[in-house]
Amino acid sequence: MIIRAETPADHQAIYNLTRDAFAPMSFSDGSEPGIVNQLRADGDLTLSLVAEQKEIIGHVAFSPAKISGGEGAWYGLGPISARADMQKQGIGTKLAHTGLGLLRELGAAGCVLTGNPDVYCPMGFSNDHALTYSGLNPKYILFITLNGTAPKGEINFAEALEEEHP
Ligand SMILES: CC(C)(COP(=O)(O)OP(=O)(O)OC[C@H]1O[C@@H](n2cnc3c(N)ncnc32)[C@H](O)[C@@H]1OP(=O)(O)O)[C@@H](O)C(=O)NCCC(=O)NCCS
Repeated sequence: MIIRAETPADHQAIYNLTRDAFAPMSFSDGSEPGIVNQLRADGDLTLSLVAEQKEIIGHVAFSPAKISGGEGAWYGLGPISARADMQKQGIGTKLAHTGLGLLRELGAAGCVLTGNPDVYCPMGFSNDHALTYSGLNPKYILFITLNGTAPKGEINFAEALEEEHP
């Protein structure tokens, strides 16, 4: 498996992969593949990485995020998908770690996301309940510091992601 940046030829495969990965998820409203396209159209797709093994089997998006009490450049992780029949085999972790490494090189302060701690804490994310997001239960608000210090305050994700969580 290799991890590489997306090319225009990957857009449809990323859409299909994201659609199919989220389809069985009870929390999903089916918006995630469109969110990737909207981030791209808005110029907010800072990093779009695919995992490839003959074909595309995983994808992760990173976009700029603002934190009211955070210093430096923060990014949001998501959507992230691994092919439905290949989950829990490390694809998501490899995508996340590759992206975080690239963000570190870019000088990012860190990365935030909302999601299942059982998935993201093993990847290195943590939760100190100092971040808020739109009234969400804080246990689902996770961060990792790269070049900065732990952030405090309300997160504002890129616009396409905010539409997911109005
Ligand atoms: C979430 C997702 C991208 C993770 O990718 P993955 O390749 O399956 O993840 P990994 O194999 O790298 O596993 C990372 C950790 O998450 C855990 N994990 C993965 N899927 C999980 C699930 N559905 N429920 C609970 N834990 C899960 C793994 O057990 C692992 O933890 P461990 O190291 O303690 O065993 C993938 O499962 C997926 O596409 N899910 C559907 C779409 C989705 O839910 N996206 C994220 C929305 S927040």
